[in-house]
Amino acid sequence: MLHTVVLIPGDGIGPEVADAVRAIFEAAGAPIAFVEHPAGQSALDRTGELLPETTLAAIREHHVALKGPCTTPIGTGFRSVNVALRKELKLFAAVRPVRNMPGVRTRFDDVDLVIVRENTEGLYSGVENEITEGVVTSMKVATQSACRRIAEWTLDYAEKRAHRKITVLHKANIMKLTDGMFIREARAAHEARNSDIAYEELIIDAGLMRLVQNPADFDILLCENLYGDLVSDLCAGFVGGLGVTPGANIGAVDAVFEAVHGSAPTIAGKNIANPLALLMSGVMMLNHLAETRDDPKCANVAQRIKAAYDAALSDGQTTADLGGGCSTSKFTEAVVTRLA
Ligand code: NAI
Repeated sequence: MLHTVVLIPGDGIGPEVADAVRAIFEAAGAPIAFVEHPAGQSALDRTGELLPETTLAAIREHHVALKGPCTTPIGTGFRSVNVALRKELKLFAAVRPVRNMPGVRTRFDDVDLVIVRENTEGLYSGVENEITEGVVTSMKVATQSACRRIAEWTLDYAEKRAHRKITVLHKANIMKLTDGMFIREARAAHEARNSDIAYEELIIDAGLMRLVQNPADFDILLCENLYGDLVSDLCAGFVGGLGVTPGANIGAVDAVFEAVHGSAPTIAGKNIANPLALLMSGVMMLNHLAETRDDPKCANVAQRIKAAYDAALSDGQTTADLGGGCSTSKFTEAVVTRLA
């Protein structure tokens, strides 16, 4: 079985890290045929559109994409490629696993978290008004169906991957209607399943204090949109930052896998960017294909690539952002030579 996947190299360091992922996938014999499509500044320069209709159509056709970082031009009225993709493809769940990496020294050595973020509403609905001069508002939107959908999805994910606990972070003591609905639906979804997975609700301020004191206390963190955005970057800081943080945006039909970092224009073209975050997103993508298309080969290749980059890191083969001396291509080679 060969899976066609849309590859969006993106801007800045995007094409370099995408090339590295392609090389490692090829060396590992991944059953993936990439079809390249543009998005971001490079697409705007070439086609006049930040997110060309042909790129969207390709994702709708093949249902899975691996996306490099895209520059959003500032002050030109364009909405970001990421926001547009989430809206157009109804990618309602943002998933970000955060785990310690071998050989990457950080403050904690027992971090193994997954942040699930509701991706479609909350304050990101973009409903802002000027009531009168000097008074503006931003509307936080919560719908029962979206709150229930993300809770059900998180429970499915937790059960499939044998997680032990879901913690919902909220501020329902203040936002009684919106966050109130978010926790009510999560609680009801959990109760309806009679699941073995433990469930807790924490007011986000106290919850974050506990999180930074002892991240090992937590497993899956379920958040509405804004909290999820903030909490996932905070958690990335536990394990070494943006260079080692993969992500996925998942909908009922389509899924887009992407590194969390941006296009890092100041280091673009220098062969020093860390390709690991996009590679880890690629491994998430292989696991998603293994599950949704029932293809054990994808799971096997994912496991071999993970073992190879873990081994490279354990041997001190890291790029400059992790304190090492590898170039992008040297790190890529280090992973390829460790593929079993
Ligand atoms: P950034 O993530 O590009 O850079 C932040 C810092 O991290 C910089 O010092 C950069 O050199 C470093 N960095 C990031 N990724 C790295 C990697 N793989 N290896 C080594 N170092 C790395 O964030 P910034 O500067 O805020 O944004 C730059 C551009 O990226 C903007 O145009 C922004 O809109 C876009 N962006 C795109 C995202 C996406 O497409 N998912 C996400 C975030 C920003």
